[in-house]
Amino acid sequence: MKVLGVVGSMRKEGNTGKLVQAALDGAKGAAEGVRTQLVPLSTLEIGPCQGCYEVCSKTPYRCVVKDDFPSLLSRMEDADGIVIGSPLYFPVPSRLVALCERVVCLAYFHDRRGHKGPHVLEDKPCAFVVATGGGEGVEVLRYLFQFALAARMTPLTLKRYPYYGVVGRGDLEKDEAKPVEAARDLGRLLASALEE
Ligand SMILES: Cc1cc2nc3c(=O)[nH]c(=O)nc-3n(C[C@H](O)[C@H](O)[C@H](O)COP(=O)(O)O)c2cc1C
Repeated sequence: MKVLGVVGSMRKEGNTGKLVQAALDGAKGAAEGVRTQLVPLSTLEIGPCQGCYEVCSKTPYRCVVKDDFPSLLSRMEDADGIVIGSPLYFPVPSRLVALCERVVCLAYFHDRRGHKGPHVLEDKPCAFVVATGGGEGVEVLRYLFQFALAARMTPLTLKRYPYYGVVGRGDLEKDEAKPVEAARDLGRLLASALEE
């Protein structure tokens, strides 16, 4: 089983990456044969959706804009589960917004053109982690949740606040919510969802 971690932060050594890595570690430790890969969006060129209405998803899920998006989308398709991490950036970093709008546009035109096959991310379990400077971060989790639904993925939820995922505020070691442990637990939950 493959679990892909997408880090939406523009800082390589930031807290978002630490939380995504903790979730991947949790997934790896929870089940035999789980392989993980972490992809920092900061290393990829992913521009905004160009609104190419005439050609978007003409071939199912094919985006004609030439940058790193198509190869990232095929890595997402290839993964059995996905962890998405985002910092709170008033509210979501623009490169991650670009990734989300590109996927959602392809999904919309997939249906609009009457393609019969499944959506490429359909029913894929996914989980979210968020890093903030101290804010609640719930608006970021809600954004990611809406994205997952529009992409036809299956977002995990938790039985404790903030329900949509894990948030780490400020210094992760000092945060009383113990977000690194919580992210590990979330990764374990994702691994068990993949086994079902
Ligand atoms: C453009 C921008 C906007 C931000 N807005 C907020 C905010 O509204 N509330 C907050 O608590 N932190 C805010 N932050 C702080 C980041 O969420 C915080 O530093 C987080 O740890 C960044 O993730 P990283 O460590 O992965 O880089 C903002 C940071 C940036 C760069």
